This record gives sequence, structure tokens and C-alpha cells, in this order.
Amino acid sequence: MTVYIDFEPVGRRGQCPAGASLLDCARQLGVDLVNLCGGTGSCGRCKVQILAGQVSEPAANEAKLLNPQELATGYRLACRTIPLGDCKVRVPPESLTTPQRTQVEGIETPVSPEPPVTSFTVKLTVPSLDDLRADDERLLAALADQHVAAATIDLEAQRQISPQMREGDWSVRVAVREHEIVAVLPASRRPLGLAIDLGTTKIAGYLMDLETGRTLASRGMMNLQIAYGEDVIARLAFAKGSPTHAAQMQDLVVGALNEIAAELCAAVGAEPAASTSDIVEAVVVGNTAMHHLFLRLPVDQLAHAPYLPAVSSALNVKARDVGLRIAPGGYVHLLPNLAGYVGADHVAMLLATGMNHATGVVLALDIGTNTEVCLANHGRLTSLSCASGPAFEGAHIRHGMRAANGAIEHLRIVDNRVEIQTIGGAPPAGLCGSGILDALAQLYQHGVVDARGRMGDHPRVRGDGAGREFVLVTEGERLDVPLSPGGGNERSAITFTQGDVRELQLAKGAMRTGIQVLLEIHNLSAAHIDQVIIAGAFGTYIDVQSAIAIGMLPPLPLDRFRQVGNAAGMGAKLALISRSKRTEAQALAEQVGYVELAAIPGFSRTFAQAMYLGPDLFPNPA
Ligand code: FES
Repeated sequence: MTVYIDFEPVGRRGQCPAGASLLDCARQLGVDLVNLCGGTGSCGRCKVQILAGQVSEPAANEAKLLNPQELATGYRLACRTIPLGDCKVRVPPESLTTPQRTQVEGIETPVSPEPPVTSFTVKLTVPSLDDLRADDERLLAALADQHVAAATIDLEAQRQISPQMREGDWSVRVAVREHEIVAVLPASRRPLGLAIDLGTTKIAGYLMDLETGRTLASRGMMNLQIAYGEDVIARLAFAKGSPTHAAQMQDLVVGALNEIAAELCAAVGAEPAASTSDIVEAVVVGNTAMHHLFLRLPVDQLAHAPYLPAVSSALNVKARDVGLRIAPGGYVHLLPNLAGYVGADHVAMLLATGMNHATGVVLALDIGTNTEVCLANHGRLTSLSCASGPAFEGAHIRHGMRAANGAIEHLRIVDNRVEIQTIGGAPPAGLCGSGILDALAQLYQHGVVDARGRMGDHPRVRGDGAGREFVLVTEGERLDVPLSPGGGNERSAITFTQGDVRELQLAKGAMRTGIQVLLEIHNLSAAHIDQVIIAGAFGTYIDVQSAIAIGMLPPLPLDRFRQVGNAAGMGAKLALISRSKRTEAQALAEQVGYVELAAIPGFSRTFAQAMYLGPDLFPNPA
């Protein structure tokens, strides 16, 4: 038995199995609903509005995640709602994942390919009664004669040799890594590499031609582990609960990487079509927690002071040992970790931005749920990590949303009006990270919010005390949102609340504390900084002036700031195609001094000061 579901305004409709949730129906009909929790009913992001038709009664958690007005006007969580017959469903823009910006691009550092895996076409002599050598012996001898000597053959590669030789008319392509044959491919295939930036919130993947060093395709997706916590602390707590939990966390990531690899290969579309078995090497970078969860390393010691990684050295593991479906004999290379909260992604970022070659005083920040900061002071590098939280990803912000169509990305207060710019020019649906930052900066600069973060009076402010909110887009301005089927007015204004201000003060305070601590360690003031490099998806789109206005970034001339995009991903790519870059990464990890922020004397005082809004909060050192 089936039901007919009509999703509007996206215009997707069709028959779905009776008993399936609206989220499953949406998936089946190609409607990309946000489902941060993976459909477990805990994130509250898969909101839809039932315009017509009967559905199941609201589940208990829907009453918690939807307000009474929403429930009264037909809003439901798609993952908790079962259609009882044909239905017409409205999908609000903030519940759609696409088009969504998952920043994957970043600075490209030109580098000559010098891949750790090289491939050779080998022509073999045809066996005969006079030449009875076994297939492996025949291949090793021909490889040594024609190209390079190899000493060992991976067992999985060994299994491919005999059929490939015969199918390829005694010509094969062999991928060799440090004297080991890791893959045997048809002669027509080109060896590919996969670089992954495994972020706490997002994953970016890149497919590369190992011979030319060219990026063939890139793709970003959400990290589904988010269902088990927005930050690494929550995920570590879950993973150390039981081996099953740890396996679940690993499966989620490995599943996502396999999906990315398959989609990247499909996206290349060249002849011959790429296949995941052509990927002979992968590089994965992530923070230390992501690194450990991916490899299912113990995380207990990482979750407690003094927060020690189980492994800090660079690693080479067989892809099959972690379940990654590339060439079965291929390896995954993991760059070194610096410390419990500064991982291989930071090393990759330093590599891509050339911090090890920086002259003068250079500050580099990779802004994310955890923000890593490095100060290079005439060749001396010091790094730390600060828990900036997911506020700039739109989490914990009343009208926060991911960077999708309709997200307000920039805004300005002019007199009593608010001018907004949305992604894709679509009607406003909420605020993404850069819009959130602009909102706070504008409220502070217009005196609506004071330096302590208290929201005062303004014609657009309503409510009392902790419930105060500034109306960015009024109910009347949201004319794109249709009325409910019953004719009631369910349009809600887009506001920026007192609670949002507090969340951002914590986030910006954490970042500014990190910067200040590094400056003090080097006995420098902000004025000494010659250049500020801002990496990370959020950092790509922010208005630096807004970040300066609230005191998140030091007050320096704008020409000293450089927004470089996903530098960790770029570092992963460099490490994929260049052996010398891997060596450089190892040297960087040994060169960088690490500081545990919370252990710094006076940390609490600095943090309290950094929470104040406004530029230039910190005096120069005496
Ligand atoms: S997908 Fe998270 S609540 Fe529905």
C-alpha cells in the first residue's frame, strides 16, 4: 500500500510506502531535508508543515522541539511523522539542505607532484613451456626491468595479478608504494588519490589525479556524528561508553567517506569512468578526536586532563583495516597530531598556509567548532585550541541556520530599518554564521547592545530581560511564508535575541582569549601582527570589519587579513601528492610549541575580559 505525498514549494511529489516517515518519503522523492540527528528526533531541524491530509499524532519529543503555535499551525518533525493517507506538505527553506555551502575550496599552493604511490605500465612476456615462472615472479621481474624494483606484493593486490594479466593481454598498471605493490589495475586506468578534511561538523573530500596533481572533483557533506553531539567532548563521551558506541562513531565517518569517494568518482565522468578501486592512496586530516574516532583508537585518555592523544605520529594504515573502500591494498596516510585538542588538521592548515616559512609575526586561525590558533613569531610557532562552539554554525542561535538559500549572510542597520542580503537572493529564512556576526556587530555599533552584551531599548527591540529580542525581519516582511491552512497567521519574525548575544560572547571570547594568550606568551601586542590568516568555512564569508567591531579579531588594518578558505583540506591535498610535503608536515609537528589554554595562569581573567564587546580590549604589554 502506498500514499501520495506532495512536497511544496519544491514541487516533488509521488507515491511512498505506507508507514514510512515523512523524512523517508522526502528522501525517496529527492527532497533534501535537514536531518542533523540522522532522523532520531533530537535536532528539531526537519520541520515541515502539513497543509492537507492526515498524519500520525505528535510524538512526545515534538512537543518539546516545536512551540505550541507551530504545533497548532500544522508544523511537525518529518522524522517523527507518519502520513495516514495522501498529504500535501510545505517544506520551509530553513529545513532544506540544498543548495548549501559546504566550503571545500581554499588557497591552492602550487607543488610539483611527487606522489608516495607511483604507477607504471608493465609489459609482460607470455608464459610458455619454456618460461614457467609464477605470475608474481613474472611481474616483479618485468617491473624491475622496465621501471623500479619492488620487494613485496600486498595480498589483495596479489589476488588481482593473475586475472588482470590475462584480461589485459599481458599488460597491467602497477601502483607501487615504498617497494610494495599496492594495486594492480588495467593498463588503461589512471591512479587516483583521495584527500579528506574530516571536520567536527563538515567533511570535505577531494579526488586527485596522482600523476598530474590536479584536483578532479571535490565534495562536502555534514559529519553525521553530529547526532551524538555537536562538539568533540560529547562524541568522545559517547564513544568511550562502550565498544559498540565507538564502532558506531567509526562506521558513521567511514560510511560518509565511502559515499564521498563514490560520488567523487561518479562526478569525474571522464573516460574511462573513475572507480573507487582506482584510488590507490588516501590522506585524512582531522582534529585529534576525529582522528581517533576514525581509527577507533582509545579516547578515554583524550577526554580527561591532561588530554593525551593515543597517537601523535603520522600513520600509514591499510584502507581496508578501517573499512575504507578504495583499492584494497591502498593505504590511508594520517598526518601527525600535535596534542589532544590540536590535531592533524591544524598541521595541514599550517602546511597549506606556509606558516613554517612565515617571516615577521603571523597569526593563523582555523575557525570551527574548535578554533585552532597559531602564532608565528619570526620562525617560532606556538599553537593552541579554543572551544569556540557551534554558534557560528548557526547552532544555539534562535534563528540560526546553515548557509543555505535564504540564509541572511550580511546585514546592516540603517536608521530603524534593517537591510539584509540573503544567500541566493531568496526570501529570508534565518541567519547563517556571517549574518550572525554582522547582527551582533551592528547591534553593538548602533548602541542596541552595550559592551557587556546587555540589550537595551530600540524601536525594533521587544520583550523583557532575558527574553528581549531585536527584530531583524518582521512577521509582515515574511510574505513568502504562506498562511496556515486554517487561515491563522503563523509567520514568525526573524529575531536576534539576548540569548544569542550571550552565545556569541562565549564564542568570540574563546577566540580572542586564544589570540591574547599567544601574544602574551611571545610578549607581543596585537599591533605587532603583520598578517592574520583566517581559514575555515565560516572564516571565508565573514565580514572582517564586523569581527573587529565586536573584538573577535584584533583591530588591524584590513589589508593585513587574508581569508583562505579550507586550508586544512588544501594541506591534505598537498600531503596526498607530495612526499616532501609529508616530511615537511612531520617537521612542522616537531617545530610547533603547544599551549594548553586552560592551564595558562590568568586564563579566567583574560576570558572574562575577552567576553566584552568592542575593539581593542587588551592593552599593549608594558
Ligand atoms: S531529523 Fe532531527 S529531529 Fe528530525
